[in-house]
Amino acid sequence: MRGQRSRARGRRVAVLLEPGVLEGVARTTIAKLRRAGYITLESVAATPVRELVERTGMGEPTAVKVSHLARMMVDPGFVPAREVLERRKDMMRCTTGSSRLDGILGGGVETGAITELIGEFGSGKTQICMTLSVTAQQPPEEGGLGGRVAVIDTENTFLPERVVQIAESRGIDAEKVLNGLLVARCYNTDHLVILIDSLSRLVEEQRVRLVIVDSMIGHFRGEYIGRENLAPRQQKLGSCLSRLLRLAETSNIAVVVTNQVQATPNVNYGDPNKPTGGHVMGHACTHRVYLRKGKANTRLARVIDSPSLPEVRVRFAITEKGVEDAEEE
Ligand code: GTP
Ligand code: MG
Repeated sequence: MRGQRSRARGRRVAVLLEPGVLEGVARTTIAKLRRAGYITLESVAATPVRELVERTGMGEPTAVKVSHLARMMVDPGFVPAREVLERRKDMMRCTTGSSRLDGILGGGVETGAITELIGEFGSGKTQICMTLSVTAQQPPEEGGLGGRVAVIDTENTFLPERVVQIAESRGIDAEKVLNGLLVARCYNTDHLVILIDSLSRLVEEQRVRLVIVDSMIGHFRGEYIGRENLAPRQQKLGSCLSRLLRLAETSNIAVVVTNQVQATPNVNYGDPNKPTGGHVMGHACTHRVYLRKGKANTRLARVIDSPSLPEVRVRFAITEKGVEDAEEE
């Protein structure tokens, strides 16, 4: 089965979960898995047994068997680091529209990872997302990912008119961009869970290469108020993020989420704001970009907590093109 993994357009192709793919597993079990959003062997192999039971309603022995078979078929176990390096070559990067912002991300928003945009209101998170929804649809040689974009919009701020403006001012066919942009308005955290579950199918069937969740934290902050609700909130947030990360890794797509900041009391110097979502957010997101307002239409961006990227601060601008490099001062 590993041999079936082929390369097309520079990406690994996932193995679809279809009847007969897992030997000795009933059609009805496959159907249950697919209904729950597990439509590739990779997604089954990467999911904990407990979660398979919860989400599909199948018995634990069946889930153990399915999980074991799926892992045997797609998980090579320990591999030489050379192979890991080889696999990382499948990784693609998408331009944000600003070469300086791309620069601090190591060349753009990475596939196989979650990139988190953190900042106060008006710091440019949604503007970056809207620009990415245009650039990601361009071919790789033009800085894109050559596929569709799926957006989970929790704040009703993802405006198609603005996407059209960004595309047109970049000389890109806006009609095509709108056709390749799938937007879901999300009303609460339960709805978010359902939408995240449906992503796996969307990614495989609609060639989605970038998933945006704007904002990741908004509904959690609104629904889970008070210290006593912090633990269940963090658990549900963690589960959503780990499913997004699994999707990013198994389907080699880019995931971008936005996060807000909260003021910390008793800070006498420096920036009193810190990202919301606590350690759960910090650990799940591969790259964290902290955004701040600058003069006029400029914004400042810095990567924080990164294992591989330097903490350099750059300036970009919000213009009719969406996001682009700020003019030199
Ligand atoms: P919240 O979602 O409120 O937390 O903020 P955000 O970080 O998502 O802010 P957003 O990306 O929406 O940035 C808003 C800022 O972008 C506004 O203050 C404007 O300065 C700028 N902006 C929004 N739309 C346009 C536009 O059409 N043209 C230009 N040039 N700037 C815009
Ligand atoms: Mg926003």
